[in-house]
Amino acid sequence: MAVDQDKVMELLHRFVGDLGATVHAGNVVVGHRLGLYKALAEGPATPDELARRTDCHPRYVTEWLRGQAAGGYVEVDTDGERYSLTEEQAFALTNPENGVYLPGAFVLALGSLKAEPRVTEAFRTGSGIGWADQDEDVIVGCEQFFRPGYIASLVPTWLPALDGVTDRLSSGGKIADTGCGLGSSSVLMAQAFPGAQVSGSDYDPHSIDLARKRAADAGVTDRATFEVATAQTFSGSDYDLVTTFDCLHDMGDPVAAAHHIRSALKPDGTWMIVEPFAGDDYTENLNPVGRVYYGFSSFLCVPNALSQSGGYALGAQAGEAAVRRVVTDAGFTRFRRVSETPFNIVYEARP
Ligand SMILES: C[S@@+](CC[C@H](N)C(=O)[O-])C[C@H]1O[C@@H](n2cnc3c(N)ncnc32)[C@H](O)[C@@H]1O
Repeated sequence: MAVDQDKVMELLHRFVGDLGATVHAGNVVVGHRLGLYKALAEGPATPDELARRTDCHPRYVTEWLRGQAAGGYVEVDTDGERYSLTEEQAFALTNPENGVYLPGAFVLALGSLKAEPRVTEAFRTGSGIGWADQDEDVIVGCEQFFRPGYIASLVPTWLPALDGVTDRLSSGGKIADTGCGLGSSSVLMAQAFPGAQVSGSDYDPHSIDLARKRAADAGVTDRATFEVATAQTFSGSDYDLVTTFDCLHDMGDPVAAAHHIRSALKPDGTWMIVEPFAGDDYTENLNPVGRVYYGFSSFLCVPNALSQSGGYALGAQAGEAAVRRVVTDAGFTRFRRVSETPFNIVYEARP
């Protein structure tokens, strides 16, 4: 069969973009760790000036800046080779406290890829890899990836979209944040609702150690406490709100988790489920966002689920119908989609 040269060129074009993006990931993380973006945001600089500003070697900084300009992450004035950041580049690349912080996603991606030999082997054996056995950069990169979105949406949009929940939390209330990771959502809710008690939990002890540190740094240890526990076993009862942020699909037994959540809620309590944006059929997810999530799913989500008992591995592109099935199988009677962003869908479930 004759090879269509145009189609080969089309594939090569795609490949060059992907290869460039793959190595670009490492360079973004270098810029994040060394403060190169932040220093460039202080004002335009030649490579030598940026190297002096950041106490780095000028030869490396030159190569880094040229690659960043080729990728559109920095601007260059070729008359004198001076680099700068636009307002938008500075917004997205310099401050983890903003509602967008792109380098965090690359920390997560590079951390995930460190498991490649084990993931390759797992494809053959069907064995799992627990979240707790991933590289440290998966844990902190996940926080850096998701936290900006939570800053942008959790308190301003997602919680108010739930039926009566913010009114209740304004005058107190109990929240369980299960699968909380490093607790960024727990801390944000504790800050927004000083009268509420937030109980974060995660099955990974190291994540819980870091969550306690985050709560201490934020000055909310009086109202945000953490325990090592699975979503099937976390302690406490009579919660007004239980939250699961981007973790239900990671669990080997999400239905057992949903049963436990229902028993831990007050009869009129609410379960807020935040899951990756996805359509029900995989064909709806064959797009750039779906590609990101399927990529993480085969390295992180499916391996974690297969490392646990239960027999489920929903994956990061489960979609509304799959989430609804888990929720209703556990006896919840009301379920609705309340909000969405390009990366997340937020659901409300009531007993
Ligand atoms: C993608 S991370 C999300 C972490 C955090 N909720 C966030 O949004 O940043 C998934 C989390 O689920 C946790 N996890 C996985 N299986 C679990 C289980 N069965 N019970 C509780 N936590 C679990 C992992 O340790 C990890 O912290």
